[in-house]
Amino acid sequence: MQHVIVMGAGNLARALVKGWLDQTPLGMKLSILTRSNAYQERGWVVDDRAIPTYDPEILTTADIIVLAVKPKDVGAALTTVHTYAPAEALLLSCVAGVTLRTLTGALPQRSIVRSMPNIAVAVHDGTVVVADGNGLEHALWPILKSYLACLGHVAVVSEVWLDPATAVSGSGPAYAYVLLQALLEAGSQMGLPDSLARELAAHALRGAAELALAFPERTFSELTRWVASPGGTTEAALAVLKRTEVEDTLRRAIVAAGSQAARLGQTGPQA
Ligand SMILES: NC(=O)c1ccc[n+]([C@@H]2O[C@H](COP(=O)([O-])OP(=O)(O)OC[C@H]3O[C@@H](n4cnc5c(N)ncnc54)[C@H](OP(=O)(O)O)[C@@H]3O)[C@@H](O)[C@H]2O)c1
Repeated sequence: MQHVIVMGAGNLARALVKGWLDQTPLGMKLSILTRSNAYQERGWVVDDRAIPTYDPEILTTADIIVLAVKPKDVGAALTTVHTYAPAEALLLSCVAGVTLRTLTGALPQRSIVRSMPNIAVAVHDGTVVVADGNGLEHALWPILKSYLACLGHVAVVSEVWLDPATAVSGSGPAYAYVLLQALLEAGSQMGLPDSLARELAAHALRGAAELALAFPERTFSELTRWVASPGGTTEAALAVLKRTEVEDTLRRAIVAAGSQAARLGQTGPQA
């Protein structure tokens, strides 16, 4: 039985824990280590199978530690890992921007895997981008990989792609929600009940994503043309989007997210 301890009880930790508790992978015991009861104020409904604790002693029994704290808190969290966790425990960092070099600088003797999940791990349709590195040689990596696969798609990539992957995949659901909000408001403006507009908007995005995955040889422009017949409704919308340079604005916004990930890495963890 592998003991997986999630450090942090925030948004990402909650998504990971929900994803795992919904279908607890075979051979996994799950615990949560946090530093305050702030998670209660954020409405975390505690499940009896994984009650958050403040006692770092729990780390002495860890096989796998999942670091889900903010970049500014990484220094203190790594000190706790160093003090309590067995040297052979495998560490999975989910922290944006903080590089393997920085992590192994703080914990030189340990096996560390750097990753970037997204929030859809809560519904087993997330993506976990994993940086290629020494941690993948640890005996527990195949098991950890199977745990991550329970949460959705796992992509192992070169570490140089982690910051852009953070911008595209880690933050990606937030851009989708901006579009969903616009669909909801427009639907509502045209008289659709909110609940129906929300349902239709979410299914439209899910269907569009499924099509993109089903036809990888098709460009997104080609897929757009499948929807937009000449002189039709979609063309009317696309003309407004083109005029207002929405695509360019989105592209610049996402590149800004990538730059921020790189900046977080340069700042390094602070205790
Ligand atoms: N949110 C996402 O969708 C997402 C996606 C991918 C990656 N990430 C990464 O995941 C990390 C967490 O993000 P988040 O959105 O979940 O942040 P968050 O909601 O602020 O949660 C951070 C959690 O870490 C806890 N914490 C801080 N220091 C700790 C320590 N030393 N020991 C144990 N727990 C500690 C915090 O406790 P307090 O409540 O007491 O502050 C809080 O529960 C970030 O590095 C982010 O880059 C997030």
